[in-house]
This record gives sequence, C-alpha cells and structure tokens, in this order.
Amino acid sequence: MSQPTSTSATDPTVITITTYEEAKDAYRQKSLRQALYDAGEVVMGDVLVNLHAAEHRDRRRLENRLFRRETFELYERHLFPPIIEATLAPDIEAGRAELVDLGHRMMMNLAALTAGIDRPLGTADETRHLYRYLMLFIEGATLAHFTGDQDAKRDEIANELHKFDTEFVTPSLERRAAMLEAGSELPKDVLSVLLANEDSLSLPHDVIVREVAFYLLAGAHTSATAFTRVSHNVLKWLDAHPEDADLVRTDRLFVQRCTHETIRLQPSSPVAMRWALDDIELKSGTHIPRGAKVVIDLLSVNRDPDVFGEGADDFDPHRKTPDGVPAYGLSFGSGMHACIGQDLAAGLLFHEGSTMDDHIFGLVPEAVQLLFDAGVRIDPDDSPEMDESTTRPYFGRYPVLLEAVTA
Ligand code: HEM
Repeated sequence: MSQPTSTSATDPTVITITTYEEAKDAYRQKSLRQALYDAGEVVMGDVLVNLHAAEHRDRRRLENRLFRRETFELYERHLFPPIIEATLAPDIEAGRAELVDLGHRMMMNLAALTAGIDRPLGTADETRHLYRYLMLFIEGATLAHFTGDQDAKRDEIANELHKFDTEFVTPSLERRAAMLEAGSELPKDVLSVLLANEDSLSLPHDVIVREVAFYLLAGAHTSATAFTRVSHNVLKWLDAHPEDADLVRTDRLFVQRCTHETIRLQPSSPVAMRWALDDIELKSGTHIPRGAKVVIDLLSVNRDPDVFGEGADDFDPHRKTPDGVPAYGLSFGSGMHACIGQDLAAGLLFHEGSTMDDHIFGLVPEAVQLLFDAGVRIDPDDSPEMDESTTRPYFGRYPVLLEAVTA
C-alpha cells in the first residue's frame, strides 16, 4: 500500500508508491502528469517526456514510427556495430580499457545517430565536445537539484544550447532538408521524422533543438551507465559462479538476461514523479488527492517480493519472472511515457519461434558482449572506484584488461 506524506501546510501531499501492481496502475492514470523535470524547462520545455494528453499522443505517434522492428534491425545489424567496434578498437589494441569513459563515448555516438545529429568530423575530440554538451543538458534537465546559483546555470545552459544548435542541429537539419528537396531517402533518425512531419507538428525551431538534445541525453547517459553496471555484474557473477563461465561465450542470451537483471535492480532513474491533475482512486484503494505529488519508488517496486520472489534483492540472471512481468521490472516506465527506446537499448524478449539470427539483443547487451569477446577482466592492480561527486551509485572509474584468449 502506498505511503502518503505531507511535510507542511504549503507543501503538496506526497504519495510514495512502492509495490509493483500499484506502480503499474499509477502509470496508467491519465490524470497524472509528468513532474520529474519541473525546474528543467531550459532543456526539457515541450519535449516528448514533458508533454501531456493530446499533445503527447500526437508527437509520440509520429516518433513511434521510427522505433519499430525494421529500425532496430537496421541499427543493431548495420549502423551500430561499426561505431561500437571503432570506439572499442584502440582499447583492444592497448589491451586495457576504462569502462566509464568508454561507455559514455560509445553510447554518445549511438545516441547522436538515433537523434539525427550529424558528426561532420567523426573524431574522438568531436565526441568529447558533444559529450560536454550532453553533461550540461543533464544538469539543465535536473536543475531542481542544482545546489549553486540556479538562474546563472540556466542562462549558461541556454547559451550552450544555442551553440549546440549552430554547430550541430542546424547543419544536420539543412542536410536533411536538402535531401528531402532532392527526393532522397532521409536517414532513420528523430530529426528526420520531425522534419518530414513539419506540417502536422508545427514545431518552432527551439523545440526541435530541445527535442534532439533530449534524445541525446535520454539515450546516451542511461545506456552508458547500464553498460558499466552490466559489465560489473557479469564479472562478479562469473567470479562467484564459475560453472556459468562458458555461458558468456556460448549463449548470447546470457548477457541480455544480465542486462535486464541489472536494469531491474539499478534503474537509471530511481524514481518516476507525477502531479495529480484530479482526485484519483487506485485499484488498491489508495486515494490520491488532486494536487498531490506521486513518487514511484522504482528501487522498491522492482524488488517487490510478491512479484520477483524472496530473493528479489539479489542479482540472478537465471531469475524467472511471472508472465507479463518484464525481467527489467518497471525501469523503462509503463503507460503513456514508457521508454520509446527500451527495445533499442535492451532488445526484445526471446519468444518461441525466435532464432538467434533474427533476435534483437539490444545495444547494451551487444556492447557488453563485445567486451567479453575481447576477454574483459578486472585489472588486479587497479580497482574500480565509485563517483564521489554524486550520491547516486555511479562508478567513477572502472579499469579493465582486455586479453582475448585465442583458441
Ligand atoms: C538503459 C537504457 C534506458 C533506460 C533505463 C530508460 C528509461 C526510461 C524511463 C524510465 C522513461 C520513462 C520516464 C517517465 O515515465 O517519466 C523513459 C522515457 C523515454 N526514453 Fe528511455 N531509457 C533508456 C534508453 C533510451 C534510449 C536508447 C532512448 C532513445 C533512443 C530513450 C528515449 C526515451 C524517450 C524519448 C522517452 C520519453 C517517452 C515519452 O514520454 O513518451 N531511452 N526512458
């Protein structure tokens, strides 16, 4: 049952949801509006995840056209592998890597491709430059938590967004507009979808810039964090379960299962938040008064023992979840704002009738698999460190050796 709390007469009532079934029900409620990015308008104003009702439905419907199986196949089989391999190649050559930095560069490049941000130079320096923008946009989206001068930060980010537009978005838009004019097929990315549907969407240029910036941060940071955490969990699991050592080489679904289990236990965003636009009664009987803030506590929801069993807190890639419950729990959300990129990031479920050749594994499992193919192991002389600059459990440095055993 959810816990209502109220801190003072002026603060809103806060309802915290900690069980799986209540969370599913809350995600379904049309009178609950996004609340996570309230102070982050500078980057998040009018972007998909912040829209509500018909405005959200119309834009989501158009962007959904990109996120379907044929695009996943194109990305996973043709567009992503050369990027992943090129990013990893110098590390394989050197026999060592630092996973936090590697993951961010790799996922940044993949997210830029999905968003439709052209990379005229394609160099590592350009990736770092784009990555700097990305980190600023994340600060912008989460401005509510910024402890310094928020107004000054907001101005700085607005300026940087403008530079990002001039350097990246406008040239990418112009290239696609010329292709459209010439009758050529547009690349499969978010910017192309927005351009091709300009008439029905009527989005001002600044909204297009923010939507693209949002796709960059929605796709890159989440996947990069998952990349390091999954690699860590697989390494630790194999350490404790040597009997599974072969699985990482012989069963390509193993790393995908480890990815889902990692994302369940360590969701990229530990909470979802919504404002109640109306009085709401959940099926459980919980009453949410109009004006209340609803906090969906994903760390608890995804460890709900009624759904995930008594060992729900433990990492176990062999875990079986009940029918209809995704192995990654609700870490990709649910309902109208359910993550549009979840199949791209974590792949599809392996159904009866699927084959290894037609299965979509997801870009995080694919990238982690390549690490294991390259013989990844923890560097015994250089231990991983946590990121001390945040209270969130992120790795700050994760040095590894890459020593493929050639048979
Ligand atoms: C491990 C990787 C990822 C995780 C854990 C994740 C998580 C989430 C979550 C929890 C939400 C729902 C937010 C809410 O209900 O308030 C969401 C929404 C979204 N995600 Fe992801 N995401 C991931 C990867 C991606 C990727 C690769 C993309 C882009 C291709 C993406 C694009 C989006 C978009 C556009 C939305 C907003 C959908 C809407 O409001 O209709 N995500 N994501």
